[in-house]
Amino acid sequence: MVEIKTDAALDAMRVAGRVVADILRETRAAAGVGVRLNELDEVAREVLRKAGATSPFLHYRPDFAPVPYPASLCVSVNDAIVHGIPGDYRLRDGDLVSVDCGAEVDGWTGDAAVSFCVGTARPEDQALLDATRGALEAGIAAAVAGGRLGDISHAVGSHARAAGYGIPQGFGGHGIGRSMHEDPAVPNEGRPRRGFPLRPGLTLAIEPMLLAGGQDGFFTAPDGWTLCTTDGSRAAHFEHTVAVTPEGPRILTAP
Ligand code: MF3
Ligand code: CO
Repeated sequence: MVEIKTDAALDAMRVAGRVVADILRETRAAAGVGVRLNELDEVAREVLRKAGATSPFLHYRPDFAPVPYPASLCVSVNDAIVHGIPGDYRLRDGDLVSVDCGAEVDGWTGDAAVSFCVGTARPEDQALLDATRGALEAGIAAAVAGGRLGDISHAVGSHARAAGYGIPQGFGGHGIGRSMHEDPAVPNEGRPRRGFPLRPGLTLAIEPMLLAGGQDGFFTAPDGWTLCTTDGSRAAHFEHTVAVTPEGPRILTAP
């Protein structure tokens, strides 16, 4: 079931979204060469604690996962696409990192992600980052009342494919609100003018994942969570929580 949110609910989701934006800013600032991924998780926990927020990631156990998620942050490095569990790996110069986090405040949820390179970015990584951010921007621009869900999927997918990147099938964006994962699913490819009608009060997490090798193949790592590219190529991931409003898309996780 899709819940259409009131204006007051959107304002409440914006409060959670600001906490998410703060976590992404703080973890990115902390993500230097030699820093352990679990130190970034500690940064996230501290921001959540100070804001009086909780993590919708911690102990989350969707159908596809064999064990509850053990952290407040997903940190996915290089060939890891999403859902990387922050362990004691130390970041190296040139690593391509996706940081994904959520926050829940007063029963409302926000979810967002950014990708970046640590230290010096390789040109091909910078191109992948730019294309993935561009795919998110295209998807957000399509989140307008009167449109259809397929407009968003098509905008994301065609942006990625035009640049020659792969798209993992079966993982994508989602409705969001009182829970982190609500209906409708927001695939990262689709047909324009098809699917669920977009109307004011619909809140979606839009999250393109692009694979540098141009193939769509991925597998789940032995930890049961981390999705990795089959060809070993690098992946990037950006995400915002967005509301459809009469004035156009409202980014609830904006900095
Ligand atoms: N943004 C990711 C998603 O929507 C967050 C996963 S949360 C986790 O799938 F708890 F599953 F890690
Ligand atoms: Co999400």
